[in-house]
Amino acid sequence: MITSSPVAGGNGDALIEAAKAEVEKAGAKVQIVHVRQKKIGFCHGCYACEKNGVCIQKDDFMDILRQIHEADAIIAAAPIYYNCMAAQMITLVNRLCCTFACKTYQIGLKKKVGAFLTCTGSDVEEMKHHVWNILTLPSVNRAITAFQTEVFTRCGSHDTCRQTPEYLERARKIAQWAVED
Ligand SMILES: Cc1cc2nc3c(=O)[nH]c(=O)nc-3n(C[C@H](O)[C@H](O)[C@H](O)COP(=O)(O)O)c2cc1C
Repeated sequence: MITSSPVAGGNGDALIEAAKAEVEKAGAKVQIVHVRQKKIGFCHGCYACEKNGVCIQKDDFMDILRQIHEADAIIAAAPIYYNCMAAQMITLVNRLCCTFACKTYQIGLKKKVGAFLTCTGSDVEEMKHHVWNILTLPSVNRAITAFQTEVFTRCGSHDTCRQTPEYLERARKIAQWAVED
C-alpha cells in the first residue's frame, strides 16, 4: 500500500489503514510505503535507465519499485491537488521511466491496483479518468490485471474519511476485492 498525502493521519492515511486492517483479516501481509517519509527525486528524463533498467538517482525509489514488483496487489492513496494527483504520487509515477525505457525490463508479477483519491469537490468521473489515463498506458497496463478507482469527495477536514463510516467501508470493499482470487 502506498499513501502519498503530505498530511500524516489525514484522509488518505485513514483509508489506507482501513484497507490494511481488512486485508490482514484475510491473512494477507501488508507493507505500507509512506511517500512523505521517502526521498524521491524528479525524473531527470535522461534515459540512463535505458541500459539496465536502473535509475541513476541514489534515493528511495528503486527500493519502492522492488516492493511494487513483489506485491500481489497495490492500493495507493493520493490527494487531489488542482484536479490532478498531488505531486508526491505523480513524481513516483514519473520515475517508472526505467520500466519502459529499458527494453529488456522484467515487469514482475501482474497485479490488481486500487486507487483512492481524496478531494473536496473535483468531478468524480474526471478524477477516475485521470487515473485511467495513467493505468491504461501500455507500459503500466502490462503489469496490471484489473484496477478500481474510488474518489472520496467532500474531504473538507483532515479527519473526514476517519469520521465517515461509508468512506471507510468503501476502502474495505476495495481491500476485499484486492485480495480475492
Ligand atoms: C494545494 C491544494 C490543492 C487542492 N486542489 C484540490 C482540487 O483541485 N480539487 C479538490 O476537490 N480538492 C482539492 N484540494 C483539497 C484536497 O484534495 C483535500 O483536502 C484532500 O482530502 C486531502 O487529503 P489528505 O487529508 O489525505 O491530505 C486541494 C488541497 C490543496 C492543499
